[in-house]
Amino acid sequence: MHMPGHKRNTELCEMGNPYAIDITEIEGFDNLHQPEGLLLSLGRRLSRMYGALSSYPLVNGSTAGILAGISATVRRGDKVLIARNCHKAVYHGVILLGLIPVYCYPQIVEGITPFGGILPENIEEALITHPDIKLVIITSPTYEGVVSDIKAIADITHKYGAYLLVDEAHGAHFGFHKGFPQSAVKLGADLVIQSLHKTLPAFTQSAVLHLNAEELIPRIRKYLAVYQSSSPSYLLLSGIDQCIHLLEEKADSLFEVYHSRLEQFYQEMAKLKKLSLLKRDRIGKYGVYELDPSKITISVQGTGLTGHDLHQLLHNKYQIMPEMEAPDYVLGMTSICDTKEGFERLTEALLAIDDSIEDLRVRGYSVPEEVDHREGLKLEDYDTTDRRVVPIMSPPEIKLLPSDAWNMPSIELDLRKSAGQISAAFLSLFPPGAPILIPGEVISEELIEYVLTVKRLGVTVTGLTGETMDRIEVVT
Ligand SMILES: Cc1ncc(COP(=O)(O)O)c(C=O)c1O
Repeated sequence: MHMPGHKRNTELCEMGNPYAIDITEIEGFDNLHQPEGLLLSLGRRLSRMYGALSSYPLVNGSTAGILAGISATVRRGDKVLIARNCHKAVYHGVILLGLIPVYCYPQIVEGITPFGGILPENIEEALITHPDIKLVIITSPTYEGVVSDIKAIADITHKYGAYLLVDEAHGAHFGFHKGFPQSAVKLGADLVIQSLHKTLPAFTQSAVLHLNAEELIPRIRKYLAVYQSSSPSYLLLSGIDQCIHLLEEKADSLFEVYHSRLEQFYQEMAKLKKLSLLKRDRIGKYGVYELDPSKITISVQGTGLTGHDLHQLLHNKYQIMPEMEAPDYVLGMTSICDTKEGFERLTEALLAIDDSIEDLRVRGYSVPEEVDHREGLKLEDYDTTDRRVVPIMSPPEIKLLPSDAWNMPSIELDLRKSAGQISAAFLSLFPPGAPILIPGEVISEELIEYVLTVKRLGVTVTGLTGETMDRIEVVT
C-alpha cells in the first residue's frame, strides 16, 4: 500500500532487459532538452491525454518540475503566495531565487490531523494585502488526498494578475474516471506538476510538468535544462512511454475495475467500530472540495493506538506495508496496479485489528521505546502509558527571509536548548516532507515540545542533526 504506483505488478507492467533500452541521445533517439522526435511526441501525447497546452516529461521527479515552474514564473526577489503545507521542493525554490514568501494556511480537519484544503477566500485576502504577489503555489491533492477548489482559486489568482502553480504530485491519476477528482490542468491552473511514479505505473522519479501559459514555454524549457540531468535516463522515459501507452489503450477498463475495488473496500470499512477513515463526509467542510478515494487514511484517534502502532501491526502481523504513519493516522496508497487480493488482505487486516482494539485498550496499549519493533509486537510488550493527543502547532514567528537565514553562518545546538533561536534548517515530518519549520523562523517552546512528542510517537523528523538526531542548526 505504498509507492511506486506500479506496485511491482509485473502482469500489468512489462519491460524487457533494462540494458537493452538504456540508450542515450544518439541519432534517432532525440534529446530531452531539445526534443524534435520521439520525446517531442511523448510530450504531445501527455498534453493530449491530460488536456494541457504543452507537457514535459520529467526524469528528476516533481521536484525538478516545481523548481523549473517557480523559476520560469518569477524573477529573483519576487513575492510568492505559498500554502504552508507545500512540499520542501517549493521552499527550496524560494531559497534558490531569494523569494519573499507570504503564507496561507490550510484548514484544520476536526477529528483527524491531516490538513484540510486551502480556502479561495484566504487566497483572495492575501492577494489584496500583497498586490505584488506574482505566483500562487498550492498542493492539491495533499498526501492524504484532500483537493482544494482549484477553479475558484485559479479565477481569483488570475483576477489579481498572478500565475497559479498546482503541485499535483499525488494526482497524476486524476481525470481518468468520474470517481476521481478532475485534474487542475483542466480547472484553470497555469502550471501543474504530477509525479507519474506516485499514483500511476511508472518508474520512481518519472513525472510531468503541464503548462497552460504559452508565454512561459521558453523559460520552462530553459529551466528544465537547469534542474534536470544532461544524461536523462531512457529507462525512465521509456517507462513514461509505457505508462501513457497503457492508459491510451486501457484507461477506461483499468480505472473501472480499480474504482469498483475501492468502492467495495469502503463499503466493508463501514463495519469499523474504533478505527475510522477519512471519508467523503468531510467534503464541503474544512476547505475540502473533493477527496481522492485512492488514498486510504485510517485514523487511530480515540483507540489508544498510535499511527506507529497501527503501522507496526499492519506490517509485522499482516505483511502489509502502508505508505506512511503519522502520530494519529496511517496512510495507504493505492493505484490501478493494486490487486483484488491486496485490497482483500487490507480489508481483513483492518477489520481484525478493529475487533481486537477493545482488548488492547483495557491493557492500555502503548509500546515502550526499548521494544524492537522489527521483531514483531506481542501483547506483553505494551504498557499502560497514556497516549497524548498530538498538538496542533501555531504558525512560527518569521525573523528572516528563508534565503538569508539559509546563507548565514550557523551553529548546531541541542534542540531542547534552542528556544528563541532562528532556525537555519528545515524540519519536516517525513513523509510527506512538508516543513514544520523553515530557515528564518523562530524556534518556539511549542515547536520543541511538538517535535519531541511526534518523535516519541515514532514519526521521523528530518532536518535534525547529531548522532542521535537531537540537534538543530541555528543562525549565529
Ligand atoms: C506534495 C509533493 N510534492 C512534490 C513532491 C516531490 O515529488 P518527487 O518525489 O516526484 O520529486 C512530493 C514527494 O513526496 C510530494 O509529496
